[in-house]
Amino acid sequence: MAAEVPSWWQTAVVYQVYIRSFADGNGDGIGDIAGMRDRLPYLAGLGIDAIWINPWYPSPMADAGYDVADYRDIEPAYGTLDEAQALVAEAHAAGIRVLLDIVPNHTSDQHAWFRAALAGEPGARQRYHFRPGRGEDGVQPPNNWQSVFGGPAWTRVADGSWYLHLFAPGQPDLNWDNGEVRAEFEDILAFWFDRGVDGFRIDVAHGMVKEPGLPDTRDAAEAVQSLVQSRAGHPAWDQDGVHEIYRGWRSVANRYRPERIFIAEAWVSSNERLARYLRPDELHTAFQFDFLRAPWRAQVLRAVVDDAIAAAATVGAPPTWVLSNHDVTRTVTRFARSQPEHLIETDWERGRWAGEDPDHVLGRRRARAAALVQLALPGTAYVYQGEELALEEIEDLPDAARQDPTWAQSGFTDVGRDGCRIPLPWNETEPSYGFATESGAATWLPQPAHWAQHSVQAQDRDPDSTLNLYRAALRLRRSLWRDAGDVKWLAVGADVAAFERGGSQCWVNTGDSDVPLPEVMSIALASAPGVRGVLPPDTAVWLRADEAPSM
Ligand code: GLC
Ligand code: CA
Repeated sequence: MAAEVPSWWQTAVVYQVYIRSFADGNGDGIGDIAGMRDRLPYLAGLGIDAIWINPWYPSPMADAGYDVADYRDIEPAYGTLDEAQALVAEAHAAGIRVLLDIVPNHTSDQHAWFRAALAGEPGARQRYHFRPGRGEDGVQPPNNWQSVFGGPAWTRVADGSWYLHLFAPGQPDLNWDNGEVRAEFEDILAFWFDRGVDGFRIDVAHGMVKEPGLPDTRDAAEAVQSLVQSRAGHPAWDQDGVHEIYRGWRSVANRYRPERIFIAEAWVSSNERLARYLRPDELHTAFQFDFLRAPWRAQVLRAVVDDAIAAAATVGAPPTWVLSNHDVTRTVTRFARSQPEHLIETDWERGRWAGEDPDHVLGRRRARAAALVQLALPGTAYVYQGEELALEEIEDLPDAARQDPTWAQSGFTDVGRDGCRIPLPWNETEPSYGFATESGAATWLPQPAHWAQHSVQAQDRDPDSTLNLYRAALRLRRSLWRDAGDVKWLAVGADVAAFERGGSQCWVNTGDSDVPLPEVMSIALASAPGVRGVLPPDTAVWLRADEAPSM
């Protein structure tokens, strides 16, 4: 019997569109749907299968759109519902599926439900977590939890009670024990599925259910929450009760044809815990963040790949590889400093990595090699906008320009995530490097002066650019890797990770000396120009078993 043809989402390369910084169609300095529509040919030419669009709903932007005021409409700065539908239709016509971002852990404090709660409407507070304070007159928060962005996870309202927000005060957590909350979100999913949307990335998918009674954490240090460092047993995260919600969501998705899919953002303590979200009646895929936290060391890469594949296989899900996103330091910069032996735990300490100056040339070289490893692995891969241009983290933004709530909430100690969210450079012309199709207001975050050289226009004409490397890799991935089967490691030395899949090989050298390549294979693609015979440090190659002599 012929093997079953995998569904598109099992092998897809998904491009993450951070809408605010992708392309600005009306010159107000903020990316929007019109800009995205203009740039669809670029995305189609890149060779991706789908896009994931960060939240585009009406929002006061306390957290760049992750504070949603209305889940069934479009933020006016981004466009209209009609434009959104036109985008979905045009993307489909270009062969690109569209995933949205659903934010179910919390709403905006401007959402009608939260306003009703503050206004004291009967029953309205049950949809959130309101509690009396502790101590005399209830002046202490109800428990010791800290917000992910810093400071207490509780804010006091006029009548003296407190509400829970694991993130910014403008993001009150919903109470998922409330039946109205559950029904509302199933309806929101159907609203967008009815409009042809192919699926959702689920924001903070491990957070919606809290330990009953909202107990203090067992030790005080645990009260400080970090997304990236998720500990087992924390009362705010990865509670077993969350899975029932996803069974409900899966049955909503199952009503639709073609298939509608989910991808979970769940920062949990292990791939085993993550696999629980991927049981056959729950979600389709979930980001495996260990690749994004892995230092540039072959033995760590091998271990991360093996663990991710093994855990996903226990539930029959495809592994899901991600090198960066809008919450973490850009790949180039992560690899531009000395590398630890273990998974990186200090991502939120951006820019203060032991005070070391970044070597961006080195970081770019490694990021290009990492991309070839990512795209040769089985399963599905996410590319964050700008990764295909090898953009670096902008670590020296003026303080006055910073927008991430992390900056203020941490008492101005954590610079936050703005440095990976800078508007994209499309051409070499200032101002805005083509980000705005008509010149107008300054970009919402300032772009660095040297980004003309990294623009799409500049990289287009350079055959050795990272953009052209991605284009070639995405094209070749279809023939070499997409349906190629399991990873078989080759024993070729401690500083090399090399594997074979279906007769092709991927090699990456994280050491500091050249490594000989097999003579019977030819180089299908290399992450650096001029590779032949040996694999230089910080370089990856794809090798193809053909009879042609390797040149
Ligand atoms: C997720 C998002 C992040 C946001 C947070 C709160 O981690 O990726 O950007 O700040 O959730 O919604
Ligand atoms: Ca705009």
